[in-house]
Amino acid sequence: MNRVDADLALQQINQLDDDNQADLSAFPGRNGWPVVGDGLAFFRDTLGYMNHMYAEYGPVFRMRLGPMESLTLVGPDPQQMVMLDSHNNFSTSKGYATSLGEFFPQNLLLRDFSDHKKHRRIMQTAFKNQMLESYMPALHTIIRKHVQQWGQQGELVFYKAVKAALLEVGSEVFLGMEMGAEANRINQAFIDLVTGSTAIFRHNLPGTAYARAIKSYRYMHDFLSSQIEDKRNGDQTDMFSLFCRERQENGDYFSDDDIVHHISFLLLAAHDTTTSTLLTMLYEITRRSDWQERCREELQTVSDDYLKYADLATLENCSYCFKETLRLYPPVIGMARRSIREFDYGGFTIPANCTISTSSLLTQRMPELYHNPNEFDPERFAPGREEHKTHPFAWFPFGGGAHKCIGLHFAEMLTKVTLFEMLRHYRFTARHHDPDFAFIPFPKPRDGLPVTLASLG
Ligand code: HEM
Repeated sequence: MNRVDADLALQQINQLDDDNQADLSAFPGRNGWPVVGDGLAFFRDTLGYMNHMYAEYGPVFRMRLGPMESLTLVGPDPQQMVMLDSHNNFSTSKGYATSLGEFFPQNLLLRDFSDHKKHRRIMQTAFKNQMLESYMPALHTIIRKHVQQWGQQGELVFYKAVKAALLEVGSEVFLGMEMGAEANRINQAFIDLVTGSTAIFRHNLPGTAYARAIKSYRYMHDFLSSQIEDKRNGDQTDMFSLFCRERQENGDYFSDDDIVHHISFLLLAAHDTTTSTLLTMLYEITRRSDWQERCREELQTVSDDYLKYADLATLENCSYCFKETLRLYPPVIGMARRSIREFDYGGFTIPANCTISTSSLLTQRMPELYHNPNEFDPERFAPGREEHKTHPFAWFPFGGGAHKCIGLHFAEMLTKVTLFEMLRHYRFTARHHDPDFAFIPFPKPRDGLPVTLASLG
């Protein structure tokens, strides 16, 4: 198939009719129940449901969740085709319009091709190595304070605890706000927005999650807008300030609305993904205490009381655990796109205007790619095995191509700083191992992972 010019593709995206997407009834798959489709089965046991669909219908299957019908493509080849999109066949903005459009409008995932490129520039300074390094002391200070509090409690539900710590990271490192009443209000507004985005009941009636999200959206928008002038003229180096001072190609600042949309989305993109990673990683290393010990020993070889940026790459066991966690529990279990035009794949002709989902969840557990794929085995990433290198898209928790996660190094740095603060002083034990996992909106043990901390003395 011929490559279509990106500007033409951008125009064609606007012609896709959201209310009349392609008819997929000829594809393998099923409709599920009236109205809800397979929504209940999908939410109750996402991994089980997806495994079943793949086994029953093969690597291209149709599913219906409520009113949303989509085609899932399983395997590294289709992930590569969709993510790299060398023919400009796929719209990311249309793929995410329904889930993100209302409360996180005009963010980077809601932009395509040249428009996306123009806007991704707003983040370029904030994610340079030198800036990443500059965030490390603040990360250590915040996480250390929280871990000390956890140690005093002795027992806690890790999900709640880590969420609170990472909200503080968001306030200080992303927004440049000290914790206090204002930061708490912003954090609550952010939580309301995330909850409202996934609300099934979407009517603006008092007391509902959806109504709270609408109110919080206005509050957040007004608050962030009110800060821009000061941040533009100041010399703070939080990410929000850097966005305010970043310039477009023509030398102009980005508009106030652009800045607000991009920084709001950054909070979303960073928060639940890293919370989920730390949660699922701790889940695994409390089951596999040998790996908890290996990470601890490695972290104890760091002579300073703080990790330096250069230390990060030397923490091999922590890296393997990070990668293995993201293989088994990718926080973004599938990446959404809409086909701009018809294309051929796997013996099928897939029509234009069809929602496509890649599946990192299924692909990263394929026995063709990974030995004992459902087992937590971080060593598979070590030299000599490196199972993830059998295909460029065997391991892709951060996506790929133009929309590849801009925060991947930040995520790894935050994870390692948190492990450093946690494991050097405490041994973590899960109070029970509940294998019941939710994968939507992000992977997490449903019980939130109650843990006990024992001081190492
Ligand atoms: C382990 C943690 C994380 C995972 C697994 C993750 C995963 C992803 C994935 C899969 C995408 C691409 C989605 C697609 O193509 O459909 C993405 C995009 C993005 N992520 Fe992350 N992310 C993580 C952490 C972060 C952090 C910490 C930040 C910021 C500090 C961040 C900021 C972004 C942004 C801004 C985008 C949009 C990029 C674009 O459209 O150009 N992410 N992330």
